[in-house]
Amino acid sequence: MKDGAVRVSTDVADDIEVLIRARYPVIYVVTWEEARVEEAIAAISSKREKKVFTWSICQGIVPYNTSPQSKRGVDERTRDPQAALSQVLESMDPAIYIFKDFHPYFCDPAVVRKVREVALYLKNSYKTLIIISPTLKLPLELQKDVSVVDFCLPDRVEIGELLERTVAEVNKKAGLNISLAVAAREALVDAALGLTINEAENVFAKTLVKTGGLSEKDVPIILSEKEQIIRKSGMLEYYRATEAFENVGGMEELKGWLGKRRSAFSDEARKFGLPTPKGVLLIGVQGCGKSLCAKAVASLWRVPLLRLDLGRVFSSLVGSSEENVRQAISVAESVAPAILWVDEIEKAFAGTQSSSFSDAGTTSRVFGTFLTWLQEKTASVFVIATANNISQLPPELLRKGRFDEIFFVDLPDRPEREEIFRIHIAKRGRNPAEFDLVQLAEASEGFSGAEIEEAVSSALFDVFDKHKDLSTDAILQTISTTVPLSRTMKEEIERLREWAQYRTRPAGAAEAAASFAGRQIEL
Ligand SMILES: Nc1ncnc2c1ncn2[C@@H]1O[C@H](COP(=O)(O)OP(=O)(O)O)[C@@H](O)[C@H]1O
Ligand SMILES: [Mg+2]
Repeated sequence: MKDGAVRVSTDVADDIEVLIRARYPVIYVVTWEEARVEEAIAAISSKREKKVFTWSICQGIVPYNTSPQSKRGVDERTRDPQAALSQVLESMDPAIYIFKDFHPYFCDPAVVRKVREVALYLKNSYKTLIIISPTLKLPLELQKDVSVVDFCLPDRVEIGELLERTVAEVNKKAGLNISLAVAAREALVDAALGLTINEAENVFAKTLVKTGGLSEKDVPIILSEKEQIIRKSGMLEYYRATEAFENVGGMEELKGWLGKRRSAFSDEARKFGLPTPKGVLLIGVQGCGKSLCAKAVASLWRVPLLRLDLGRVFSSLVGSSEENVRQAISVAESVAPAILWVDEIEKAFAGTQSSSFSDAGTTSRVFGTFLTWLQEKTASVFVIATANNISQLPPELLRKGRFDEIFFVDLPDRPEREEIFRIHIAKRGRNPAEFDLVQLAEASEGFSGAEIEEAVSSALFDVFDKHKDLSTDAILQTISTTVPLSRTMKEEIERLREWAQYRTRPAGAAEAAASFAGRQIEL
């Protein structure tokens, strides 16, 4: 990295310094940004007059900043992990040893034991061992001896400085005169949030090369790069705001609630004293627009939508499940303000109580990590969780303090069905005024939004085949041949409604008008 001007998240750098001063012997820093952490540590060590050495399996222990190409760039003797630890024990000077990617060697019991000895001995010395790795893998034996620090992704200030540096550098090198307008700077910085310093630097450079400048127009390039990077991390999926809020039919209560919070993340709202909304849980009948709502809110609020794939959190071959969820949360927080969408949350966390028998407690630990974060988070990450099946829903999720509100999304009533028909007919480029929406709504009693959509699109297939255009009759025809889920799942839906009555607030206006308790209660 360039000229040491990189500002490091001061909080984390401060944390590390405090740990070093308090003589914590072994510190484990979780980060993708090795270079940034090394620089922060180098800065601390020069302040505290300590030497800095780095270790890697390729170089062994060498002084900080030794180029791997130089002849003396390798110390064969200390490449072996145990030999390296011995060297740390034996050396006399006050020093900080940075071990890079040391985690794979924890599978060797001798290495684990040696680290414990180092931890014990270093407590009374002026030496510190710092392990840097992108993933947290700590054997049980070491958990009490090692302090873990999460190195956050760069914040707005850091990305802003990087942007200015990049522009200045390019201006100097290429003799250009690019200047950034304030609005462009803001937009570019926002777009790059969630990237590491290295990634952001690459993206800015790539954009400069591609377009010969940096302006608001380049935001989509940066966003698409970010999308790819976030996708690569595997746990989060980045959604472009594609679904318009107007395309959600019914759910007036929910829409009103969300609409009111539209500017809740702005500085203005904060100054006014509005609390930052935490999130909502949408429970209800399948196919009635819960997922649709999550997608639509992102475009209403104009903030990025990140879908957390809990299936991958658990099944991933990279990292432990807890580590995965922590990493996903940290990406979401660095992109904030953002919406974190957890679809069908009950599927991942079903049976958290029994998980100690089935998967050594992994599910409950991940659930615990997530709940704690929900409860305590201060970042502007709004969580939208959805659930179809209440019997699998862990009751802890419903306690006060986790979500601002729990909404029940029921089957649409007659006026709502009319609206949903109108939306889907218009979406297919036809004029809804030419259709008998009242008749359609009446004929589709018990249909979910998804089934209404399906009726419209299969009618479209039918008429295309007969070289006709879409008509009320064609849609009525498909309705008459559809058996809605609500008929086959009558009992389940009844049970769901009964359950929801005292635990949730209805999303639809009609139900809200009916005087029912509709309050979130403590379980
Ligand atoms: N209230 C609604 N208004 C408009 N379209 C809807 C509505 N409910 C469902 N749909 C249609 O059905 C599709 C599936 O709904 P979805 O949001 O996935 O349901 P859920 O998540 O509740 O199971 C949506 O993408 C949308 O096209
Ligand atoms: Mg869904």
